[in-house]
Parts: sequence; structure tokens; C-alpha cells
Amino acid sequence: MRVAVFSTKSYDKEFLESANEGRHELTFLETRLTGGTAALASGHDAVCLFVNDEASGENLQILADLGVRLITLRSAGFNHVDLEKADERNLTVARVPAYSPHAVAEHTVALMLTLNRKIHRAHNRVREANFSLEGLLGFDMRGRTVGVVGTGVIGQATIKILQGFGCHVIAYDPFPSDDADFQYVDLPTLFSSSDIITLHCPLTPETFHLIDAESIAQMQRGVMLINTSRGALVETQAVIDGLKRGDIGYLGLDVYEEEADLFFENLSGDIIQDDQFMRLTTFPNVVITGHQAFFTEEALSAIAKTTLNNVSDFETGEIPEKNIVSVNQYRR
Ligand code: NAI
Repeated sequence: MRVAVFSTKSYDKEFLESANEGRHELTFLETRLTGGTAALASGHDAVCLFVNDEASGENLQILADLGVRLITLRSAGFNHVDLEKADERNLTVARVPAYSPHAVAEHTVALMLTLNRKIHRAHNRVREANFSLEGLLGFDMRGRTVGVVGTGVIGQATIKILQGFGCHVIAYDPFPSDDADFQYVDLPTLFSSSDIITLHCPLTPETFHLIDAESIAQMQRGVMLINTSRGALVETQAVIDGLKRGDIGYLGLDVYEEEADLFFENLSGDIIQDDQFMRLTTFPNVVITGHQAFFTEEALSAIAKTTLNNVSDFETGEIPEKNIVSVNQYRR
């Protein structure tokens, strides 16, 4: 099949070409999918998208009119796709449900440890021959209560690592796992009991701004909050206010609500216009990475393989059900 690959970076090209083995005709496009770029999919049967491509209803309409039949996502998350429109225009949407949950889980814990032991500050100090320990005091992870919101594959991989540290794990998920070796609690209990809260649920209308002024008010003063899931789970101004008051003691983000205009690009010579993002970067107790939690060799290789298998399976038969995204995905 002819596949237009949007938002291509050098590493996408490398891993997709290697996994393709000549099966499909891949057109690599550096641009994101937007209303202005959708026409580049002309002459292709499928488009391959990443997390900041705009698969809005309008853009899907353009793609369908151009003859595109398959949207294959190089991601697990699919909140950027208008599934109702895809259904209406008979576009199949496929994703990579689990490529390396360990990549994201390990990055999540890396953020926790960095914030706790202040590695980011220590690194800078040592480079300037400042070996003072003032202000670098951390805490033992052992015995701390960690609240995990969303116990899918990434949430559970994170829990396993935290259990290895001797943390007490509590979790919330509207669809609890049957064989959990951790305790499920309701969301208010999770908010009020946790030293560290980490988000691993998808972005849906129900989880939009899950972390806002009201939920922050229920948390312990000085809580550590980690989001490696999707930016819009967190209301940015509410966490800035929480950080200024000291209610939030540590913030680790790999995702940001307005990341589409920032992440994955080198903007080091530009004047960043997003004042909320820039305010976040001024706090000593905030660590932000630019949506890199997935970025391991194992994950990129698995993403490329599943993405192209989805294309082959679409062409020759049926895509495995677990890889299909339907309008009813989280309405089980
Ligand atoms: P998954 O589908 O295996 O698990 C999601 C879990 O969240 C499910 O158990 C589901 O029941 C639960 N859930 C649904 N609604 C909920 C709610 N209202 N409150 C709490 N839990 C809820 O997904 P997986 O693979 O674990 O991924 C989780 C999220 O991580 C993805 O949706 C994606 O947004 C994000 N992600 C981020 C990456 C990164 O590089 N930063 C890479 C991959 C995924």
C-alpha cells in the first residue's frame, strides 16, 4: 500500500524502513498533519500519524475525500483522532496498543527519582565545582505511598518497579484488573493519601483536566505529581498556582497540554510565546521532558513493526481487534 508518513523524524524513517522490508511504498513527510498539509496524502491509501498530528473531523474528511482508507497511528494514545468522523467516513483507525510499556514506566520513575534526589540541580552544581548539599535533601522511596491513576499496561509496569522499591501502591481505575497485587481506592482517597501521584490513564472527556484546583486541594501538601500520559489531563494554571503556594512540592511532566507547538522541534533559537510553559520551566522543583518517555530502541522497533503489520493486515485480511480503535473504545 502507499502510505504517507506524517511528522517524520530521522529515527522514524530509520525504524520504519528497517521494519518495512519493501512491503509498502512509504512517503516520508516532515510536516505535521494539519488542515494545510492534509492534501499531501493525495495518491496514498493510508496515512501514518504521530501524537501531535491533527486528525480532526475536518482533516479526516479531507483524507477520506482523497481516497485514504486507513489511519495507522505510531502511538498507543488516540485522543487526537476524531473517531466519530472516522467511523462516519469508513476510515479504519489502527494503533500500537502496547509497544514497550517499560519504556514509559521507566521514564516515569526516572522523573520521580530526579525530582526526589534533585539530580537536575546536583548535575549543574557539580559542573560548576559547587559541591554543597544545601537544598538537595531527598526522601527514601521505600514506604512512601504512590497513587497510580490508570492501571493499564503502563500503569502496571510502573507499579511493578515501585513495588521493587518498597513503595505502598494504591490505584484508581474504573475498570480494575482482576489479579491486582495492589489496592484499588476511589479517586478522592488516592488524592488525599498519596505522597506521589502518577497519571497513566488515557485522555478522554472524563479525564480532561483531572488535575485541577479542586483535585489539588484534596492532595497532601508537598505532593509529587507526575504526568507521562497526556498533557490535557492537567490544567496548567492550576498546577502553577499549586507550585507557587507549595501545595505541589514536585512536578514531573513528559507531556504538556499545548505541546503540539513546542515538542519534537529544536526551538532553541526561537522566542517561545507560551508564557505558561516558560513559567513552569522556572521552578526548581519542576522537571519537564519533551514527550520522550516512549523513546527507546525497543519501543521504536516495536512501533515500526506493529504499524507496518497493521498496514499489511488491513490489505490482506483483518487487523487484530486489539489494534483497532473504535468509537466505543472506553465505553466498555
Ligand atoms: P491502556 O489502555 O493499557 O491503559 C489505560 C488504563 O486507563 C485502562 O486500564 C483504563 O481502564 C484506564 N482508564 C480509563 N479511563 C480512566 C479514568 N477515567 N480514570 C482512570 N483510569 C482510566 O494504556 P497504556 O498503554 O497503559 O497507556 C496509558 C496512556 O499513556 C496512554 O493513553 C497514552 O496517553 C500515554 N502514553 C504516553 C507515552 C509517552 O511517551 N509519554 C507513550 C505511550 C502512552
